[in-house]
Amino acid sequence: MAGQAPRVAVVTGGGSGIGRATCERLRSEGFRLGVFDLDAGSASEAAGDGLGLGVDVAVEGEVTAAFSAVEEALGPVDVLVNNAGITGSLEATRLHETPVEQWDRVMDVNIRGVYLCSRVALASMVPRRSGHIITVASVAGMDPFPARSAYSVSKAAALLAARSIALDYAGDGIRSNAVCPGMAETPMTKWRLDQPDLRAAIETSIPVGRVAQPEDIAEAIALLASGRLSYMTGHGLVVDGGWSLR
Ligand SMILES: NC(=O)c1ccc[n+]([C@@H]2O[C@H](COP(=O)([O-])OP(=O)(O)OC[C@H]3O[C@@H](n4cnc5c(N)ncnc54)[C@H](O)[C@@H]3O)[C@@H](O)[C@H]2O)c1
Repeated sequence: MAGQAPRVAVVTGGGSGIGRATCERLRSEGFRLGVFDLDAGSASEAAGDGLGLGVDVAVEGEVTAAFSAVEEALGPVDVLVNNAGITGSLEATRLHETPVEQWDRVMDVNIRGVYLCSRVALASMVPRRSGHIITVASVAGMDPFPARSAYSVSKAAALLAARSIALDYAGDGIRSNAVCPGMAETPMTKWRLDQPDLRAAIETSIPVGRVAQPEDIAEAIALLASGRLSYMTGHGLVVDGGWSLR
């Protein structure tokens, strides 16, 4: 709106895939961006005229310092997109076969990271009585993917974190929603989709007949971030081409 400062969004894991597409989409909507990623270079590229930082979302001190730097450079954060996430390993493992370190790291990034980033963002949003937290969960958090126990459990927790925040902060004027993608073509899934037989099998199992592009998921995040769905909070928006219907 004319005369108003641009809105500020922080996107975690914004250096690649869905996060990267989200950064491009939000910048085109006029947001100024703080981008946190393990890869500082790609975070900077994604941030454009905002602030890109090398941050591990699982490390409290790094998260706190990064939010301070963004607030100082760009102003208070209006929207946090909790997008950083990992699957743990390329190899599918059932629970008893999952190494403890791998389980811990998946939880650290996918749910501790959501907690650490959300708590800092909320502490600044509460006094302003405004803000929106958007968490990228997964349809794996609704029904588990086979032999992906750590990932599925972490995404169920991320989805519930989004709903818990929605409940606890609605009275403070803050909303919280999740986006639950199905299969999107990103560096996370490239190893699978680059195998023609596997890709064909995956696409056959998706009712709309194709995997998502990162922009398909970014579009849903941008719609939430726009504020147009202002009565929606605590919702998990499924964007999966109908995959979870089968
Ligand atoms: N690709 C899919 O099919 C799919 C489906 C459902 C949900 N998701 C979720 O979407 C989100 C983005 O996934 P993607 O497919 O774009 O993956 P990606 O691997 O392309 O991108 C993830 C980004 O997060 C960053 N990252 C990883 N760990 C981090 C940490 N500890 N701190 C900061 N940054 C970190 C990576 O450096 C990378 O830039 C993830 O939460 C993922 O679980 C993806």
